[in-house]
Amino acid sequence: MDLSYFHVAGDVPHGMKPNTSVVIDVLRATTTIACALNNGAEAVQTFADINELEKQSLKWPSSQRLLLGERGGKKLDGFDLGNSPIDVTPNLVKGKRLFMSTTNGTRSLERVFESNSLFTMSLINRRAVGLKLLLNKPANVLLLGSGWEGAYSLEDSLAAGSLVAFLLENSSEKIRIVNDELSAALALWSYWKENIEGCLRKSTHGQRLERLGNHDDDFLCCSQLDKINIVPTQREKGVLFSP
Ligand code: MLT
Repeated sequence: MDLSYFHVAGDVPHGMKPNTSVVIDVLRATTTIACALNNGAEAVQTFADINELEKQSLKWPSSQRLLLGERGGKKLDGFDLGNSPIDVTPNLVKGKRLFMSTTNGTRSLERVFESNSLFTMSLINRRAVGLKLLLNKPANVLLLGSGWEGAYSLEDSLAAGSLVAFLLENSSEKIRIVNDELSAALALWSYWKENIEGCLRKSTHGQRLERLGNHDDDFLCCSQLDKINIVPTQREKGVLFSP
């Protein structure tokens, strides 16, 4: 299996249409997606564009939909929820379609909507995604971080490194690291793996969240490793289900 990692959507070479993609946004979109599906949401439908989200969500019965949205880490006005994995409780999300737009994570997803297989990953479901890749045995995998407005993020690289570490430890077949971004991500994982929360808090987006208010529960949730067995999987364009 050949794996490459790109920090943000804009780094993916123009015209490249990946076969299998794994989108990562540890703080917090892909953690929230994993938690929402784990807590019984029917699906999470993702949008880079808020107007499009509002238009599409109206096609869904109001009693069965929730709008999740964040810009700059803050909940969007008029939306039911922001982007905290703590808020997507079973009570709120069970059986509902979640319409979601975030600053960076949903943009990365949009870049690879056309992949034949598209999964989302965070630290919380790293093992589940790793096992899925070992089962499916794709020849090439594109790991795509979300970063912040086009710039590198520490926590997404950490998660990319954690996935490769898992694959290297558990695969009977050759795992090939294709680009330097992924070698660096693996080194980052080796450095921080005993203090994941410390890494998240050190990251610039972690510091942004701290400036916005108390996000201790978010940090705790987003830094959990291998706690959820869900692999959010695209079955319709932009819509993630738990298979
Ligand atoms: C994003 O997509 O940029 C993030 O998930 C932002 C956040 O922490 O809400």
